[in-house]
Amino acid sequence: MTEFLINGGRKLRGAIAVQGSKNSALPLLAAALLVCGEVVLDNCPALSDVDAALEILTYLGCRAHRCGSAVTVDATGMHACDIPAHLMKRMRSSVVFLGAILARAGRAEMTMPGGCMLGPRPIDYHIDALRALGADIDLCGDRLLCRACRLRGAELLLPFPSVGATENAMLAAAACRGLTRIRNAAREPEIVDLAGFLNAIGIPVRGAGTPVIEITGGSRPHGVRYPVMTDRIAAGTYLCAAAVTGGEIELTNANPLELRALTDALLRAGCTLTVNGSRLRLHAPRNLRAVGIIETGPYPAYPTDLQPPLLALACTGKGTSIFLETMFASRYNHIEELRRMGADILTDGRFAAIHGVPRLTGAAVSAPDLRAAAALVTAALGANGETTISHIDYLDRGYARMDEVLSSLGAEVCRREF
Ligand code: UD1
Repeated sequence: MTEFLINGGRKLRGAIAVQGSKNSALPLLAAALLVCGEVVLDNCPALSDVDAALEILTYLGCRAHRCGSAVTVDATGMHACDIPAHLMKRMRSSVVFLGAILARAGRAEMTMPGGCMLGPRPIDYHIDALRALGADIDLCGDRLLCRACRLRGAELLLPFPSVGATENAMLAAAACRGLTRIRNAAREPEIVDLAGFLNAIGIPVRGAGTPVIEITGGSRPHGVRYPVMTDRIAAGTYLCAAAVTGGEIELTNANPLELRALTDALLRAGCTLTVNGSRLRLHAPRNLRAVGIIETGPYPAYPTDLQPPLLALACTGKGTSIFLETMFASRYNHIEELRRMGADILTDGRFAAIHGVPRLTGAAVSAPDLRAAAALVTAALGANGETTISHIDYLDRGYARMDEVLSSLGAEVCRREF
């Protein structure tokens, strides 16, 4: 087990380059399966979830290795089309290998994916989309058996703009003869990054970033060198962390437009934000204000993954902040732990009302999932005294060496392994 010991109250100051995006790197690694040849992904973050994806690729028979921040995958020798349960259970994103393996091999076998416990996370939209593209899919308990003699382009209408279902449909559509049109597609920036990758390997994709995406499949993809986009969730987490300490930081490689929903909330809290190209500077006041009403939703609405760190910030914002979590049923796992630190929070189902207190107090808390861990780190940085956060392994799934990044900004963070 790994824990963080944080001595709170030190202002974060300085500049950081944000890591590559976890939620983009994982589908891009799956997409490398479409190519018989070498794919190099630059700016690929060093995360345990990325390691898990590399293990899946190696199991399938690909060459996959990291050199610095570049990961090289060569799927020419792919010989398996199943993923064992112990690899599937390591993360939710293992499910995007379904569309990619099916596209490459015409069949795929796996169990249901793992991932953070945020309430029910079905994959019915993924399955329906793949079936509409011509796949036969049998569900036997926890196992998925997929076969497709011939995948063919089709009109798909997603019941909800699911990120994972959109990615799976795009990956399978790459191998479909003809045009696939996905309506009500997810519009997240990570979808645009995947489309950029597919275009770069020779699969024409149009409309990514809008609700209608068109993929013209069937051509033979070729190798490419491609940079993973920067991680908007990590960027947003560092902004929240700096803000609770009354600090001043600069992100040197941000995409401020992608962070709009968060920066609007930080402005309401009294922070000053300055944009200069891809440089985003935050200056926080001594005392934060409430963040107003935050309702999570599909992009461009407020991102559910940044709800926990902002909620932690709201704990010391003067006044009342209201959160409405619409994306996942159990995404308030951090609230009980924040209460241990003195937070004043009322919950009712998907609503949370946070009454700002002047200061939180350090305590022994336990991280229940990845983004909840980020919330506890945020709270601890602004709290009086020492906080121990156990189960930091969750944090390492999505944030590359967060302790080192925070230390470089002046925080007092110590990692302890047991
Ligand atoms: C992705 C992100 C995750 C983020 C989420 C929402 C990755 C690796 N993960 O997760 O960090 O929190 O988007 O922005 O990119 N749903 C169904 N049936 C399905 C698929 C989804 O009912 O077949 C529901 C889910 O239960 C959830 C909602 O749709 O309530 C959104 O889920 P989705 O967009 O699919 O999230 P993920 O792709 O799992």
